[in-house]
Amino acid sequence: MFSPEGPTLRELAVQALSSVEHGYDLLAPKFDHTPYRTPDRVLDAVASALAPMGPFGTGLDLCCGTGAGVDVLARVCRERVTGVDFSAGMLEVARRRPAPPGPEVSWVRADARALPFGAEFDLVVSFGAFGHFLPRELPGLFGQVRSVLRPGGRFAFPVAAPPRPGSPGYWTLLGFDAAMRVRNALWRPPFVMYYRTFRLGDVGRELARAGFRAQLHALPEFGRRPDGSPRVRLVTARRTA
Ligand SMILES: C[S@@+](CC[C@H](N)C(=O)[O-])C[C@H]1O[C@@H](n2cnc3c(N)ncnc32)[C@H](O)[C@@H]1O
Repeated sequence: MFSPEGPTLRELAVQALSSVEHGYDLLAPKFDHTPYRTPDRVLDAVASALAPMGPFGTGLDLCCGTGAGVDVLARVCRERVTGVDFSAGMLEVARRRPAPPGPEVSWVRADARALPFGAEFDLVVSFGAFGHFLPRELPGLFGQVRSVLRPGGRFAFPVAAPPRPGSPGYWTLLGFDAAMRVRNALWRPPFVMYYRTFRLGDVGRELARAGFRAQLHALPEFGRRPDGSPRVRLVTARRTA
């Protein structure tokens, strides 16, 4: 699962006993060698799905980490692209990477739950970070995203179909979330990371409540499940007036 350049088991354990912010500070130098970085295959599929909806002017990568989503934005935005994350360590790695060609790129350290921007973005994307938010935080988080979008602007993120109940993937995620709940009951500070709490039905409802009109787009690169449903979808949510 991890390449030789990735973190050791001990390093992962220390990270998991830290807060989310400090945990990512510790992991940052090796983050790009872990499976937690969104794979290029997903980034490419999202960029292809967004391209016909653009071009966009300004873009924000929410919880950007080392900048996976900034590369997507650079392909579909013309003016300016910003990555925002609360881990100083992740941003340091992002800043050291060669800037993608195209729009001006900047990095901002801030909590996604209190974004320091006005309504200045045409597109907000986010990859691999929603597990760090509790379901009760979604209304506030989506409200923040709405507040930084221009009227008519879009919020876009990929969502994988949950593994079928009883499948090995199902038991793996169930086990991970259960272990995390035990860890958080016994240890402070908490490390919020749950795989099974970000459910498409709840997300659609919360987006509508926050003032978005959401659409689902199958990402054909990932195929379909035996029941015909897409394995991975892109959610695009348009800021309503
Ligand atoms: C799994 S990483 C994903 C990074 C990147 N988006 C990617 O796909 O490779 C999750 C990122 O979310 C950031 N994060 C988690 N909670 C956050 C919050 N409340 N505000 C800002 N960043 C946050 C972490 O610091 C980390 O960089």
